[in-house]
Amino acid sequence: MSEAATLRAVPVAELSVEDARIEHASLASEIAEHDVRYHDEDAPTITDAEYDALRRRAVEIEAQHPVLAAESTLAGKVGAKPSSKFKKIVHAVPMLSLDNAFTEVDVEEFVARVRRFLDLRADAPIAFTAEPKIDGLSLSIRYEGRKLVHAATRGDGAEGENVTANALTIQDIPDDLPRDAPDVVEIRGEVYLSKQAFASINERQAAAGRPLFANPRNAAAGSLRQLDPKITAARPLKFFAYSWGETSAPIAGTQHEALARLDDWGFYVNPLTKVCASVAEMIEAYRRVGEMRADLEYDIDGVVYKVDDLSLQRRLGFVSRSPRWATAHKFPAERATTVLEDIEIQVGRTGSLTPVAKLRPVTVGGVVVSSSTLHNEAYIAGLDNEGLPIREGKDLRVGDHVTIQRAGDVIPQIVDVDIARREAGSSPYAFPETCPVCGSHAVREVNPKSGKEDAVRRCTGGLICQAQAVERIKHFASRAAMDIEGLGDERIEDFHRDGLIRTPSDVFTLRRRQESGEIDLTAREGMGRTSVANLFAAIDDRRTVPLEKLIHGLGIRHVGETNAKLLARHFRSLPAIREAALAPGGTEAIVAAITGIGPIVSAAVVEFFLEEHNLQEVDRLLAEIETTAPAAPTESPVTGKTVVFTGSLEKMSRDEAKAMAERLGAKTSGSVSRKTDLVVAGPGAGDKLTKANALGIRVIDEAGWFELVGAA
Ligand code: IVH
Repeated sequence: MSEAATLRAVPVAELSVEDARIEHASLASEIAEHDVRYHDEDAPTITDAEYDALRRRAVEIEAQHPVLAAESTLAGKVGAKPSSKFKKIVHAVPMLSLDNAFTEVDVEEFVARVRRFLDLRADAPIAFTAEPKIDGLSLSIRYEGRKLVHAATRGDGAEGENVTANALTIQDIPDDLPRDAPDVVEIRGEVYLSKQAFASINERQAAAGRPLFANPRNAAAGSLRQLDPKITAARPLKFFAYSWGETSAPIAGTQHEALARLDDWGFYVNPLTKVCASVAEMIEAYRRVGEMRADLEYDIDGVVYKVDDLSLQRRLGFVSRSPRWATAHKFPAERATTVLEDIEIQVGRTGSLTPVAKLRPVTVGGVVVSSSTLHNEAYIAGLDNEGLPIREGKDLRVGDHVTIQRAGDVIPQIVDVDIARREAGSSPYAFPETCPVCGSHAVREVNPKSGKEDAVRRCTGGLICQAQAVERIKHFASRAAMDIEGLGDERIEDFHRDGLIRTPSDVFTLRRRQESGEIDLTAREGMGRTSVANLFAAIDDRRTVPLEKLIHGLGIRHVGETNAKLLARHFRSLPAIREAALAPGGTEAIVAAITGIGPIVSAAVVEFFLEEHNLQEVDRLLAEIETTAPAAPTESPVTGKTVVFTGSLEKMSRDEAKAMAERLGAKTSGSVSRKTDLVVAGPGAGDKLTKANALGIRVIDEAGWFELVGAA
């Protein structure tokens, strides 16, 4: 045993000055080493409790020997370890994702959709860029006064992680832009690692006995999201620019000219980008890039097509989280065969029983796959939700040899079964009719409208089913909802099992309960004072959240991110939603008020607020959390008005007109009633125009519309 380690058995008060000095030095270097393992390598080798004990001992020594405290590198650090996570940055313009196309028909449909939306004839020219789809992680770099001010990962698209210090170490990213760049500009693109750099990083990982990265993209993400920029600097990350967010002045008229400007400013843009004038040229570009794929220095997983003309891109706008003007044409999926070892049933937060295939681990396209979703009973039986055969109607049995397929980020799927290798005497899988967690009956509800059985079997245990409770809390804390770092699935399961959190709001009372002595989290295995302090800091960080995040976190049936956003934008506070839901005729009123919310979603919202226990939980949450409302839609002469478009329009298609009105804060409707404020009538308008005139509603033509909204 070393001298310093022997000393640790001696009470601090009995240490001589000399011994104290020796032990203090040894503690300091040990603590520094653990800091690196914990923060930089995400691979601690001691428990938090052991770590805290080391720090306590060091502080005790410093208290006895102030000379050591004066020289100490540890002073004041106890309990205030730097946050193990990055700060958040709200993107000035959201970072979107792309729709996927897998076949040539998908690409034709994409182009047809674009033409329809823009009201272009089938033979009117329209150009697209075809750019390799780099398989890395996207980054947004903001320049103000032509100086790099910050860089953020995509995160959930609305807010990402501040990785500025790390981005500054990437050589491909300029710190300054030349004088012809706009004053404010956000450059977006992909951070990636070359295949070769990936291989050598993994060699080093293996030599150090650390886990290997599954593919270059994971290695790039692991390298960029390092708390110590020195580690990032040591990894040869690269960057391709392909897009932009906020700009104080337009940067070009077309996508390909914009790329040329990014190139002039010192960014790398992908040299394989082509401008295409037809679907045939797009497919040809895809084929060529596909042929080069294996020889490229970096991974790509498809080709991105973008409408070249930026004014058309603006007209096309977005649906939900993807632009209408772009799509990703993915390379074909990769396949492998393995054995279906077991079928497990997971119970979701709404009580749905989801079967999961446990597979003998197999590598597909560089990633190890060991489980895959089986969706529902019918899927296992070889039928889709319409009752039509999938896998040629072959059912799945435990022990079967199966083919799995993985396409890009898509969850792996079982696409075929080798019936010839099926064991004789095997029997079809019997789906459980009781909940594996609480034992309640699990039933397939009958849809009152269609009279058809729901595809999903649900546990009827409601509140008594612990699986539902715990899944709700996991959903609440998850990245897409409240995004509470440090409260991952495993920790929630532990806390829930031990009765520390039973409902979402309990998360926000943990600190008070700890401070009053009601609970003691530091006594839990693997949770020292530091990790408890970090957890509380992460929870406190989310006491003010965007309203849509809280709404999404409530887990109301049918209310995912998109509907949560629509509700947040309209109602602007949770009490306002509650009031609307509880008012007589609430369901219909919500449908009428919000374009995009239909009767099923609205009824689910009303049902949620009709439950007493939900109301109580909402009150408890509101006592802990503040919400921020989304930015109000652009104020315009039609904000809040209900507009009906009728007859034929010349400058825009009906869909485009509606999207434009909605962007300007108006509601659009397909029929004229007393509630209509404005009718935009083109040539050939019939009944709607007559009715509008009869009701004395203001009617204008297309030119009048552009005059009104100021965008002729
Ligand atoms: S454009 C609004 N272009 O693919 C459109 N994305 O699946 C923003 N990606 O999040 C994306 N290469 O990380 C665009 N040439 C390219 C791309 C590309 C890779 C990534 C990007 C995006 C993801 C969507």
